[in-house]
Amino acid sequence: MNLIYQAFLQAIKECSGSVLWVVDEHALTINPTQLGDSSKVTFITNRVDQKDALAESGLNCLYSDFDFTELHQHTFDLVLYRVSKEKAIVHHVINQTANLLKPQGQFVLAGGKNEGIKTYADKATKYLGCNKHIEKLSKDDWISTLENNHSDESPLDDKDYSQSIELSEPEGLTFISKPGVFGWNKIDQGSAFLLEQMPEFMKRLNLSKDQATNSVLDLGCGYGYLLANMPAFGFTTLVGTDNNAAAIASAKATLETNGLEGNVIAANCAEGIDQKFDVVVCNPPFHQGFSVESEMTERFLAAARRLLTSGGAAIFVVNAFIPVESKAKHFFKKVDELANNKKFKVIRLAGKKPFHREG
Ligand SMILES: C[S@@+](CC[C@H](N)C(=O)[O-])C[C@H]1O[C@@H](n2cnc3c(N)ncnc32)[C@H](O)[C@@H]1O
Repeated sequence: MNLIYQAFLQAIKECSGSVLWVVDEHALTINPTQLGDSSKVTFITNRVDQKDALAESGLNCLYSDFDFTELHQHTFDLVLYRVSKEKAIVHHVINQTANLLKPQGQFVLAGGKNEGIKTYADKATKYLGCNKHIEKLSKDDWISTLENNHSDESPLDDKDYSQSIELSEPEGLTFISKPGVFGWNKIDQGSAFLLEQMPEFMKRLNLSKDQATNSVLDLGCGYGYLLANMPAFGFTTLVGTDNNAAAIASAKATLETNGLEGNVIAANCAEGIDQKFDVVVCNPPFHQGFSVESEMTERFLAAARRLLTSGGAAIFVVNAFIPVESKAKHFFKKVDELANNKKFKVIRLAGKKPFHREG
């Protein structure tokens, strides 16, 4: 069992009061029996898959973009948090924890050395006004147990976590984004590279002439960059999906701001979406640490295959060094590289292979 998870369970066991467990992108499989009295534990997550898994296990879970306002201030005896990848989220959670914990309540913060856990522990120590306490759990992982003493320190810079920003493009589209969304304050270079290949991709698309609508799904839509660009290629039915609450709200706002009709659906790898699409566009979460062996690659490819019409095609952008083609060949008959700029490559997937397990 993961050592951080084990340490969190131990902290829950030792706590007689109420517990808040903040869950971000690090997948968590909780066995409720390991929690002891699970009624004292509340989970909060911004990932719909985590929310579903926790709710299925009968656990008390809130799903939001880490909006802690629905929780009462100074009610928790213990807050547990495995740090997120994005700094603004970590700072937001540390700032909010000071309000959520009772005086002298405990904040248990954990994570990898390369995730900046030591720096975060220092910042949290200062903000909570307590003595520093950090321990090594393994070669990579550290855990810090801190007490809430309410200092007069200013809150950490969370980039104004709840506020949205506007990103504008010369072509006239405006994107609404916010901290907590993937690459929230910029246009992703991989996605921009994918868009450059769209004219060539569309030329090869074999849609029937009498097709009333050209439908497109943006799988892992973030704040809706690819999705909002799709009408320029003739798409009239727009659907975006992501598992992150901040992304869902932002993509909806992006469509609205640009006067575009569309649907944005919170789902884990498009689970539960049944509609078929002529095109799936995707900039998957393959960038850091994503290996072709990973289950996530398979799930994104399987979802694209499942959701395409028989004559449809998908367009994926991935880091140039990721050998995604070998995996894609299990799902599609045609796997072609449309472009490669040494940093990213854009892959066209067409011809759904029959008899493969549905994703
Ligand atoms: C590389 S980003 C691309 C975002 C957006 N399409 C863009 O171009 O800016 C990948 C997206 O996949 C989403 N994602 C990660 N895991 C997911 C999952 N299991 N199901 C659905 N979306 C997921 C992330 O939240 C993120 O928004």
